[in-house]
Amino acid sequence: MTPPIYLTTPIFYVNDMPHLGHCYTLVAGDILTRFWRMTGRDVWFLTGTDEHGTKVAQAAAIHHQTPQAYADEVSQRFRHMVTYLNTTPNDFIRTTEARHYQAASALWEELEQKGQIYLGSYSGWYAVRDEAFYPESELVDGKAPTGAPVEWIEEPCYFFRLSHWEKPLLRYYADHPETIAPSSRLNETIRFIEGGLNDLAISRSKVSWGVPVPGSPHHVMYVWIDALANYISALGYPNRAAKSFQTFWPHACHLLGKDILRFHSVYWPAFLMAAGLPLPKRLYVHGWWTHDKAKMSKSLGNVIDPQALVTTYGVDAVRYFLFREMPFGQDGDFSAAALIRRLNEELADAFGNLAQRVLSFIHKYMDRKIPADVEGTSLFYWGRQQLQPLSALMEEQNIYRYLEEVLKAVYEGNRYMAQLAPWELCQGSAEDKAKMNSGLFVLTHLLKDIALFLAPIIPQTAETLLQQLNALKTPLSFDQLQAPLDTQQVLPVPTPLFRKVLL
Ligand code: MSP
Repeated sequence: MTPPIYLTTPIFYVNDMPHLGHCYTLVAGDILTRFWRMTGRDVWFLTGTDEHGTKVAQAAAIHHQTPQAYADEVSQRFRHMVTYLNTTPNDFIRTTEARHYQAASALWEELEQKGQIYLGSYSGWYAVRDEAFYPESELVDGKAPTGAPVEWIEEPCYFFRLSHWEKPLLRYYADHPETIAPSSRLNETIRFIEGGLNDLAISRSKVSWGVPVPGSPHHVMYVWIDALANYISALGYPNRAAKSFQTFWPHACHLLGKDILRFHSVYWPAFLMAAGLPLPKRLYVHGWWTHDKAKMSKSLGNVIDPQALVTTYGVDAVRYFLFREMPFGQDGDFSAAALIRRLNEELADAFGNLAQRVLSFIHKYMDRKIPADVEGTSLFYWGRQQLQPLSALMEEQNIYRYLEEVLKAVYEGNRYMAQLAPWELCQGSAEDKAKMNSGLFVLTHLLKDIALFLAPIIPQTAETLLQQLNALKTPLSFDQLQAPLDTQQVLPVPTPLFRKVLL
């Protein structure tokens, strides 16, 4: 029996509107979730918004709103993104919710009771854009290593004994190297820990927008300890006996961008070890999108709005492009021309066309019914044989290779159709007609299997195609790879799956 899985996206800062980077992590989670649900696995998929900290408070002030009112508004935009990207989280957490306050406070108290927190004072550099403290040694030309401006802060604050966890963390990663993927990110983490861990400032006393420190209301929690706790608040922590916590927390897989590695691979596991909680099973770290080779930023005015993309190209084209264009884990460059090329050449010309040719032939020449009988070709067994290797690729979050494999079958299907040339066979002998029937039987079943395997990535189109094959059964399941198509019922009139866009 495959174990359950708890899949999370980072929670999104509500200082600004959703952009392509946010949309990428969310869709990645959705693809994995949909795939595993189709295998019958129990998946809990979480996303949400990170609403405290200086960055959000400053954005609210610029908009002449209270932080809460501003967070309410922007959080709603992210909820909207969940919908227009056709993603299916089981829960959407906000760090301003009571359940989260309760969990973050309980985590703090647990750490305090275990002697992991002490009061001190911080004087050093802080980058609001990264919501991160940086030692002098990390600055590059007076800026954070990320390029973010830093400011000098001096204030009383609480510290977490991070230094104490240096060796246990190194031991943990030596014993469980599979925790962080790709392995280059594991190495980066190990190098960082080996460089020495200082105790971490975990409260701010000059910031008021945050979760108050239990018993010390003049301090609010540092936004990262607050934010990371969302992963357990959403499962019912501090009630460790809660069913959701028991079922899913031991199987946590966090998806995150490379910019927030340190928080997830060093601070978070240290907090969890210190609190006596199990560590996440896996951190999967993805790369960054640039736009026309430049980093996306508001000041450059080159930020991509995912909603506009969806409106122009359709949700499935956007979802497909993001995971076809750049291997998960590497960086990639967004350009509308590249998206249009993928849409036109792969989705419309290769996949859409295969479906259209097969289905319109059946519609015109086969009384609108899938023919019975099959001579048996390897294409007919393609789906059944692929479930295991494709599942292995998803297990490694290798959506890119997964798509490559499915696309190979699409091209193979097109070649097979051209070779079969049913438009010639239908004029021929009884033997020719038997060959044609078998060939179309094979092709319709191949289309069903392709639709099932593409359903996690392009759910809307996959469902349309399954409908056109009279094979739409919800919830979708890979059990359907075994099920033969109905050869009795008349098929609906086929409609093109994609519309090409002019470059
Ligand atoms: N609030 C923190 C996460 C807290 S999780 C406990 C945060 N939020 S964020 O809104 O800035 O970023 C959310 C996710 O979007 C991160 O995984 C980040 O890597 C990702 N991206 C933001 N810009 C991106 C690109 N340009 N490209 C790809 N993903 C990037 O960090």
